[in-house]
Amino acid sequence: MDTQVVIIGGGPSGLLLSQLLNREGIATVILERSDRDHVLSRIRAGILEWGTVEMLREAGVGARMDAEGFPHDGTWITDADLMVHIDFKALTGKKVMVYGQTEVTQDLYRAQDAMGTTILHGVEDVRILDLDGAQARVEFTRNGESRSLTCAWVAGCDGFHGVSRKTIPAEKRREFERVYPFGWLGILSRTPPVNDELIYANSPHGFALASMRNAALVRYYVQVPLADRVEDWSDDRFWTEFRRRIPSQAAERLVTGPSIEKSIAPLRSFVSEPLRWGRLFLVGDAAHIVPPTGAKGLNLAVSDVFYLHQALIAALKTGDEKGIDAYSERALRRIWKAMRFSWQMTTMLHRFDGEDGFAAQMRRATLAHLAESETARKDLAENYVGLPY
Ligand code: APR
Ligand code: PHB
Repeated sequence: MDTQVVIIGGGPSGLLLSQLLNREGIATVILERSDRDHVLSRIRAGILEWGTVEMLREAGVGARMDAEGFPHDGTWITDADLMVHIDFKALTGKKVMVYGQTEVTQDLYRAQDAMGTTILHGVEDVRILDLDGAQARVEFTRNGESRSLTCAWVAGCDGFHGVSRKTIPAEKRREFERVYPFGWLGILSRTPPVNDELIYANSPHGFALASMRNAALVRYYVQVPLADRVEDWSDDRFWTEFRRRIPSQAAERLVTGPSIEKSIAPLRSFVSEPLRWGRLFLVGDAAHIVPPTGAKGLNLAVSDVFYLHQALIAALKTGDEKGIDAYSERALRRIWKAMRFSWQMTTMLHRFDGEDGFAAQMRRATLAHLAESETARKDLAENYVGLPY
């Protein structure tokens, strides 16, 4: 065999899996379609569950996160001027870490380079073959040349648009999907955060989120119609809209400035089952997508990697395939709970076009209940900081 595990995709899922396997002496090759600068230019969410923090430390990539990340003990959920504090620390004993996914990815690339792992960028036409044989084979093209690698297992970490999921015959897959009728317009701006913790804001004008990367860099979002384009949104228009959606107490403190990045992302919930097909596994966005409300995307990818790295280590070191056989079911159990949480957060906080008065009242009642019930806050906190693996 050419290597033990071929990993398709050099995003956070593929890199973290490779790093954890390499540390146990297991050989991997990563095949990535884009160049590294492109992978590192993608701006994604920035909230790590504590389980994610611990996994990154275990993988030997926690040092910069511990030095530069910001632990947060809570968050705010607001409805116009009603502000509900969710005190993670008091309610669950846990916290989360503010540290951008781009930084996580960069730390993983550095660690993998130090490990000497083969990461092939610019890979095209990946085909995954022989999944029911004694060894799998992955064919691809690079620099105009056809190549092929044999391996024991293939990890499909190639995101929502990758080839891995589609390698499983359509009639053997079950897909579940909900597309939401709005997107998030996000900006990065070199301004101080409007609040020391995140604010998830419901308002009569729609949803807004005040997040941050550090004391001088914010990431703010507003819910926008799906048909809107970035060109429709001048910085002025963004700030006006953002200001009127956050509580007035926060709006008074808002510092505005030029945006240094602006993009619109659609919101979707998606799961494809099963996560295993012979010698192939699906991991992270290749298998599931969550709307960003609740910041579960990267954290779910990390819990998939948690289950899969244990399973692969046992299989390759001792021939014990129990973890391999259980991977799909174990990972999906946790995935569905995070699906439910991000769907519930999305429904609780967004205005749906054409909705009736009843829907808006349900949202407001949910938020009023959250303000009054410690049980409700505890449930939200428990899910937000991350359910156990
Ligand atoms: N061949 C090789 N590489 C591919 C292919 C392909 N056919 N298709 C996609 N890729 C690469 C993409 O270029 C990308 O770098 O796979 C990588 C997948 O990375 P992500 O989309 O980031 O997915 P994942 O690593 O599972 O990360 C989890 O959590 O917060 C969420 O969506 C967010 O990216 C985040 C995800
Ligand atoms: C972000 O900082 O980009 C972010 C934070 C929390 C979310 C989504 C995105 O729920």
